[in-house]
Amino acid sequence: MTQELTSPSPAPRAPGAGRGPAWWRDAVIYQVYVRSFADSDGDGIGDLRGVRERLPHLRDLGVDAVWLTPFYASPQADGGYDVADYRAVDPLFGTLQDADELLRTAHDLGLRVIVDIVPNHTSDRHPWFTDPETARQRYLFRPGKGEHGELPPNDWESVFGGPAWTRTDRGDWYLHLFAPQQPDLNWENPEVHAEFEAILRFWLDLGVDGFRVDVAHGMIKAPGLPDIGHGAQAQLIGSQVLPFFDQDGVHAIHRAWRRLLDGYGDGSGRQVIGVAEAWAPTPERLALYVRPDELHQAFNFQFLNAPWQADALRTVIDASLAATSSVGAPTTWVLSNHDVVRHTTRLGGSLARARAASLLMLALPGSAYLYQGEELGLPEVTDLPDEVRQDPAFFRGGRATGAAGPGTDTESAPDGVAAAGGQDGFRDGCRVPLPWSGEAPPYGFGPGGSWLPQPADWAPLTVAAQTGDPASTLELYRAALELRRRLPGLGDGPMSWAPAPDGVLAFTRPGVLCTVNTLGHDAELPAPGTPLLSSAPVTVQDGTARLPGDSCTWWAI
Ligand code: BGC
Repeated sequence: MTQELTSPSPAPRAPGAGRGPAWWRDAVIYQVYVRSFADSDGDGIGDLRGVRERLPHLRDLGVDAVWLTPFYASPQADGGYDVADYRAVDPLFGTLQDADELLRTAHDLGLRVIVDIVPNHTSDRHPWFTDPETARQRYLFRPGKGEHGELPPNDWESVFGGPAWTRTDRGDWYLHLFAPQQPDLNWENPEVHAEFEAILRFWLDLGVDGFRVDVAHGMIKAPGLPDIGHGAQAQLIGSQVLPFFDQDGVHAIHRAWRRLLDGYGDGSGRQVIGVAEAWAPTPERLALYVRPDELHQAFNFQFLNAPWQADALRTVIDASLAATSSVGAPTTWVLSNHDVVRHTTRLGGSLARARAASLLMLALPGSAYLYQGEELGLPEVTDLPDEVRQDPAFFRGGRATGAAGPGTDTESAPDGVAAAGGQDGFRDGCRVPLPWSGEAPPYGFGPGGSWLPQPADWAPLTVAAQTGDPASTLELYRAALELRRRLPGLGDGPMSWAPAPDGVLAFTRPGVLCTVNTLGHDAELPAPGTPLLSSAPVTVQDGTARLPGDSCTWWAI
């Protein structure tokens, strides 16, 4: 008998979110990059109303929560990660009332909402920085070296390229680990702690369900701000503790924030969470951020950086699970975000691999983060003209990502633009506005244009074009998320490896077995059960399963 599964099995949707107090342990959280999600007013820039209007897409997709990238008042020197007022919505994105309405609508649809908090640095237009008196206390100013103080205080480099110090017209220097418009705060000052706790409370009172903590590994610097002793420091991020990243002192801040977040739990079991964007050299050091009295989750960039090879994936998965389980936290999985090359392109320009990687991720124990557009299989846009680019790293000749680790390294091209494998390496290419419908740009993104040009060949990738097509990536994600909700064995819970040929991974979850063929050609193994869902047509004949190259299949066992 031959059984063939060529498409996701359609199934009725389970009722909306509401997985109980520890909802976050296996939540699928969808990252909305606000500027590129949906534009309601025709200025070509996505906004909060646009997000609200499109929330039904996320409900239908089947995610549990939404993470919104910064929409606060900002000069936008780094896509809003340069905040001038943490309690105000930037007019580009709407008003506080729009934020309030978005939260209410999301909650009505059963979606939780996490917002970004940026505590390592503010905008240089923040009133604390523009006032020289407060600036001196609340940021990191130092005298320069050299006879006339004309040299930076130490050898630290900005993640975006160039020195991490800028000299003021008063002659001293201030630290900015990112762009010069993003001065680093002085977390030795209790006023900084108090202000951020007040900001957290402001958004919690408005009803948010948690925070994604930007550069959660950066707030505390080594005493004396010691030199590192060599250059190309951005390449070291995530591979070793640096005097400006992953200092032990950051954990006291996370412990204080956890106490604050726990104080917002209520009798109905509301749990609000903190998610660390932290670059740590090992899974063990990353796990320190999710100890029981610290943040709830940390992004697992080791998984994102793993090559598409069975052994390497297995090693990263094992190390991730071991590290987080040692502190009782769930593991998180992520393949794409607004700082890295989209995984369709990163995994060799192969949609087949991207689909397989996504199904693998969604079968693993713990929580998964999706980046807008990955459910459409969007590739990185690699041919943006320089004049439309906005990534500050591009202008500083630095590295591709804000805080990405070694796995996203790029090689310097002759013109100073980082390039790797035909990918331009900067961050605008993964931020191109989403295609929703229609045959031509802006593909329903909004009534006007789009702040970055969309490719002319994206019509088949729109939400409308993929909806109802069982072979589409969108329907694959919908089916996977529906199964995750329906099958209790997926999500949080045990996992164990099963025997598989070289180049193939097999592991069981309660009631489900997942196979991943990382080879570029078919692989065979004894059929482990009945196929439930597959990223590519899988066949079963006389008890033997034939797994297409670069595919992932979920089996009912
Ligand atoms: C964000 C980047 C940003 C950087 C500085 C990163 O963690 O994800 O987009 O450029 O922090 O705030």
